[in-house]
Amino acid sequence: MCGIVGYIGKNKAVNILLDGLKKLEYRGYDSAGIALYNDSDQKIIKSVGRIKNLEEKLNLSSLEKYKKGIAHTRWATHGAVTEENAHPHKVGSITLVHNGIIENADILREDLKEKGYQFKSDTDTEVVAALLDFNLEDDFLNTIEKTIKMLKGSYALGIITDQDKDYIYVVKKDSPLVIGINDEEKFFASDITAINTYTNHFIFLDDGEIAKINEKEVKIYQHLIEKNKDINTIDIDLESKNKNGYAHYMLKEINEEPIVLEKTLKPYLENIELLPNISDYSVIHIVACGSAMYAGMVAKYILEEKTNTEVIVDVASEYRYKNINYNRKTLVILISQSGETADTIAAMRFAKLKKQHTLAIVNVKTSTIAREADEVLFIEAGEEIAVATTKAYLLQVALLSLLCLKLAYDKKIITEITPYLNEFKILPKLVKEVIDKDSDYQKIAQEVYQKNNSFFIGRKIDYSYCLEGSLKLKEVSYIHSEAYQAGELKHGTISLIEKDMPVFGIITDHDIYEKTLSNIIEVESRGAKTIIITTDKLKTNRNLEIIVKDVSIYTQGILIVPTLQLISYYVALLRGCDIDKPRNLAKSVTVE
Ligand code: AGP
Repeated sequence: MCGIVGYIGKNKAVNILLDGLKKLEYRGYDSAGIALYNDSDQKIIKSVGRIKNLEEKLNLSSLEKYKKGIAHTRWATHGAVTEENAHPHKVGSITLVHNGIIENADILREDLKEKGYQFKSDTDTEVVAALLDFNLEDDFLNTIEKTIKMLKGSYALGIITDQDKDYIYVVKKDSPLVIGINDEEKFFASDITAINTYTNHFIFLDDGEIAKINEKEVKIYQHLIEKNKDINTIDIDLESKNKNGYAHYMLKEINEEPIVLEKTLKPYLENIELLPNISDYSVIHIVACGSAMYAGMVAKYILEEKTNTEVIVDVASEYRYKNINYNRKTLVILISQSGETADTIAAMRFAKLKKQHTLAIVNVKTSTIAREADEVLFIEAGEEIAVATTKAYLLQVALLSLLCLKLAYDKKIITEITPYLNEFKILPKLVKEVIDKDSDYQKIAQEVYQKNNSFFIGRKIDYSYCLEGSLKLKEVSYIHSEAYQAGELKHGTISLIEKDMPVFGIITDHDIYEKTLSNIIEVESRGAKTIIITTDKLKTNRNLEIIVKDVSIYTQGILIVPTLQLISYYVALLRGCDIDKPRNLAKSVTVE
């Protein structure tokens, strides 16, 4: 996703802005640009590709005089990946960077063309700059207020106007935007990680708010009326910001799983009553995107199997447009690592509009979802730098599974919870044992990395593990993969099975062990190379087999997941992929 960053103060803006852009790289981008200002002139430099291409165009020593600027990493939505389409965009007296999507940009562009504007780019952002220029009034706040009333869509805007060079203006709607504060300098960014090297004092803007910023003060307005906002002090998580000797953040973050698992679960294992009692809900809707939704699928199987609860799991981008009949008491659970995924935010707001109770499971404490959900449970993953989620997804599964256990207990379906809690307490040790089987994963990776297609098959809860295992392999190794209910494969898709095609079989459910095994034999008889991931009680003694300890349904997934993550990691390593920043991917998808 795009990222914006800005600075005004006494230091060299170019260094701070470039550093900020690099910290936003994890969001995914394909071009970048920077605009620098001082009292007498301005510079706008852009480039396609990585930020180092932009740096190569900058003569840093000549740019040290600029103490104000805005910068942007672009993830193309409107218009191809070109320098012209990169931000910042300048139209008339307006220079602008933007994260989000303006849905009525085409109509606005045609209207502005009739008013004499000519456009150099294909972007929606340049349309916003032209509209601000067209709506120019003496008080720039009026200009902004008038303009945003005409916009449909999402935006975090950083704006510099030639008529008011002492300030930077920022505006937020749906896309995240945070202001950083020091006595003699101010910052803004899409994410605190872009600026938390310089300050630990932040103001988080809410939708419809405009901030007028100079080096000494930040004024916040809503509908042109000045308002006060809390300043949050958030200390930097330095630990997350380096690889600690690991080759990639992804491997480092997988190896952190035992630690963050312990940190996340500890308060609840000491006092399970800290988890909400959700036993009086008749229906549970679990809504999320991507891996987060697959974590919800794990919970669905546990809830249906162990708590007799009706559960609907849906992708947020579908859920928010559905005609849902909330005729029974419904809990809507939203899962989001970043807490800024546009579709999940929209689904949360949809549910709240329908007066449904929303419970969010989030990693980033300062995020929109964490701030707007009725209830929030935090995973303690720390900063997850690798774009492909690992530790955060594992913690989503773990916290959801513990919530399911609590529900079974609150519904008196289980009367003795201690044995299960004790299993959760030894999970960090068991996960460490799983992670340490490095050579097993590397051996399997050797069998897979030269292939271009694969399947993950499993039944019931094992299918939900397949979903994430398949996505992880696709994300980091670019090998096409499909997760399939093992019993369904023979109804057509089995035609794709060919000699030596890798088929991962996940078997942890004792009740349907034989059924899944017969599906594995079916694909083997058609030449597939099967890789089995199972437990010490269900092992099939095949050559390519990963064995983990057999535990209850509440905790089994937390031992399966790291095996899938490490296999994907080593396959990607052998294929020479950009493991921490896979092509086209964004860490937080803040557009719909
Ligand atoms: C990234 O590796 C994930 N695969 C991606 O699907 C992610 O889970 C999804 O975009 C949702 O992100 P969130 O958890 O921040 O909302």
